[in-house]
Amino acid sequence: MTDDVVIQARRLTKEYIRDEFHIVALKDVDLDVRRGEYLALMGPSGSGKSTLLHLIAAMDRPTSGAIRVLGADLAAMPDPEMARWRNRHIGFVFQTFNLIPVLTALENVELPLKLTHLKKGERMEHAVTALKLVGLGDRLHHYPRQLSGGQEQRVAIARAIVTDPDIILCDEPTGNLDARSANEVLELLRQLNRDYGKTIVMVTHDPHAARFASHIRYIDKGELLPEGRKPEDWS
Ligand SMILES: Nc1ncnc2c1ncn2[C@@H]1O[C@H](COP(=O)(O)OP(=O)(O)O)[C@@H](O)[C@H]1O
Ligand SMILES: [Mg+2]
Repeated sequence: MTDDVVIQARRLTKEYIRDEFHIVALKDVDLDVRRGEYLALMGPSGSGKSTLLHLIAAMDRPTSGAIRVLGADLAAMPDPEMARWRNRHIGFVFQTFNLIPVLTALENVELPLKLTHLKKGERMEHAVTALKLVGLGDRLHHYPRQLSGGQEQRVAIARAIVTDPDIILCDEPTGNLDARSANEVLELLRQLNRDYGKTIVMVTHDPHAARFASHIRYIDKGELLPEGRKPEDWS
């Protein structure tokens, strides 16, 4: 793995076994993502996009194959280390925001820092900085229900970047947003990539969203298609 390849998958495979059903969600995926790249992953529903993101994020383990992220061998990483590693190196943005409703924007963004050595004052400083960066410096003490969907997603992005991770993974980040809020979120992600050098992998259904990325790869039935190839019947 050369220095500038930050995500490397080799023959990465994930199978789910439930009762007598055996689902191959991801099959022999080879992928290299370089530092500073902004990759969009597209493909039909159920093709394995989220499964791949979860493996990169150390949220799940492969059935077989290799997955190295920022030099760490995630397939071999002991369970207790996975959460800490993820908290430190990965920012994850979900389609449904996943904010904690009883916490303010500031408290939501502070949360990942509670797993670090930072003191309360420093945590607040970082959280305020992240919320200002996403344009929500005037919404620090609002609760999620007092924010629009676009604002909620920007709080979620602030939470994803507050630990200054190298890699940001987004699973349909604009899937629950109207066109205008979606554009704000996409502009923000592009800014994080261009101005802050964050490596981004974004799963999306939306061709407009995918155009913000530097390139696009397609997944079909658990297989990552070669560059330039789309699934059959893909519009
Ligand atoms: N926890 C799970 N248990 C069993 N099957 C799962 C699980 N997660 C995903 N799958 C299956 O794996 C396949 C890929 O799912 P997923 O990665 O969520 O697809 P996508 O994100 O592209 O829609 C689907 O067939 C899905 O039903
Ligand atoms: Mg999915």
